[in-house]
Amino acid sequence: MEVYGCWKRLLPLCLRLLFLVPAGLPVRSQGDSQSDNKVMDNITVRQGETVFLSCSQGDVVTHTAWLNRSSILYAGEDKWSVDPRVSLVTLNRDEFTIKIENVDMSDEGLYVCAVQTSSKPRTTSVHIIVQVPPKIVNFSKDLVVNEGANVTLMCLASGKPEPAISWKMLSPSGDGLGSDDEYLEIPSITRQRAGEYECSAVNDIATETKTMQLVVNYPPTVFEGRDVGVTLGQRGVLQCEADAVPEADFEWYRDDRRISNGFDGIEIEDSGALSKLTFFNVSETDYGNYTCVAINKLGSANTSFVLYEVIEPTSSTLLQVDTASLLEVTSSVLEQTATEYNQFWEGPGAVQDGNSGTSGTYTPICLLLILALQLLLKF
Ligand SMILES: *[C@@H]1O[C@H](CO)[C@@H](O)[C@H](O)[C@H]1NC(C)=O
Ligand SMILES: *[C@@H]1O[C@H](CO)[C@@H](O)[C@H](O)[C@H]1NC(C)=O
Ligand SMILES: *[C@@H]1O[C@H](CO)[C@@H](O)[C@H](O)[C@H]1NC(C)=O
Ligand SMILES: *[C@@H]1O[C@H](CO)[C@@H](O)[C@H](O)[C@H]1NC(C)=O
Ligand SMILES: *[C@@H]1O[C@H](CO)[C@@H](O)[C@H](O)[C@H]1NC(C)=O
Ligand SMILES: *[C@@H]1O[C@H](CO)[C@@H](O)[C@H](O)[C@H]1NC(C)=O
Ligand SMILES: *[C@@H]1O[C@H](CO)[C@@H](O)[C@H](O)[C@H]1NC(C)=O
Repeated sequence: MEVYGCWKRLLPLCLRLLFLVPAGLPVRSQGDSQSDNKVMDNITVRQGETVFLSCSQGDVVTHTAWLNRSSILYAGEDKWSVDPRVSLVTLNRDEFTIKIENVDMSDEGLYVCAVQTSSKPRTTSVHIIVQVPPKIVNFSKDLVVNEGANVTLMCLASGKPEPAISWKMLSPSGDGLGSDDEYLEIPSITRQRAGEYECSAVNDIATETKTMQLVVNYPPTVFEGRDVGVTLGQRGVLQCEADAVPEADFEWYRDDRRISNGFDGIEIEDSGALSKLTFFNVSETDYGNYTCVAINKLGSANTSFVLYEVIEPTSSTLLQVDTASLLEVTSSVLEQTATEYNQFWEGPGAVQDGNSGTSGTYTPICLLLILALQLLLKF
């Protein structure tokens, strides 16, 4: 409107200059009901495109010009503009067309075609509106923070119309985390908020998105150690797992003594969150209490394991085990049989006196016991 008002003020001056109208002769202004002034529909064009401006002429045109605000682009065939993007397309009795290539934001505004006929001046005005796709101009870089920090992510974008900006967390744990704003504030961040974040800038023309990684550091926690039983001369492995960002370094201790990789018959192998202490051939002196300490720059955690001896089963112990389980089975079979026998003799309707229960089961139990003993004696 401002520009328009300015042009309105300047147009009579321009036309006077252009057509060398004697100063005494009044030039009709746009507001004049007598003048033949036309306002065309706005032209909406995207940044970088070419726009054509066309106005109709007539039989008795003496002078004609295209103006950008108050400056003349073309006066008839004469190019006044020094802008190489502006050129003449057509000038004949019917039309006067120029084009502006590679349109930019600054080209937005009012353009006027002024036509002087033998009778009266005439103008055609058109508003060029330049649209610009969104462009994210200032964006938070990948970020590493400590758990508990207050984090603010930033995403500033330009574009026309003004883009709508929003943030969202992409990682699955980010359900619901986001904002419809240039800034995403995450107070007192937790490890669950670590992950990938996306900013999108959207307007009528296009969408631009950018993503960034947010890393949240936290001190290690170790999974409770489980004691491990190993037979003398066998291979033994203690495993220690830690959850930490950045990944933990591990240290192993036997009581208070640090164990390192050079030790005879021992290997420490770290892979990511896991550390393994391997004894290739467990000896008597290896049995004992081991502590795994997981450390990162934010802290440490530890857990202890006992490596204990397991006696390898011999052939005699094997037999003992078998006999014991056989006895167990036999007695359970006996019990069951006794119960069934009772039920058979007594039946649901039988009179229950104090002795019938015991005397009824006594004989078959004795019988079965003898059978079972005979079976056992075969071993
Ligand atoms: C043309 O654009 C101008 C400036 O943005 C605006 O004031 C006017 O309402 C628009 N006219 C139409 C018909 O859209
Ligand atoms: C129109 O005028 C504006 C303001 O003077 C200028 O920035 C722009 O480059 C001009 N555009 C053309 C096509 O002349
Ligand atoms: C981005 O924003 C920050 C903070 O507002 C500012 O210091 C920095 O200069 C901006 N960078 C650019 C490229 O605009
Ligand atoms: C985070 O912000 C809260 C509230 O503004 C403040 O009390 C707290 O000290 C801040 N924490 C850190 C680590 O800056
Ligand atoms: C384990 O160590 C014992 C004693 O040092 C040795 O006799 C045995 O051969 C070793 N076993 C293996 C598999 O290396
Ligand atoms: C093993 O050592 C750790 C640390 O010295 C100690 O806290 C833990 O009680 C010990 N465990 C056993 C079973 O002795
Ligand atoms: C193990 O952790 C306890 C606290 O949980 C701490 O008191 C102890 O000093 C730690 N031991 C080592 C060897 O880091």
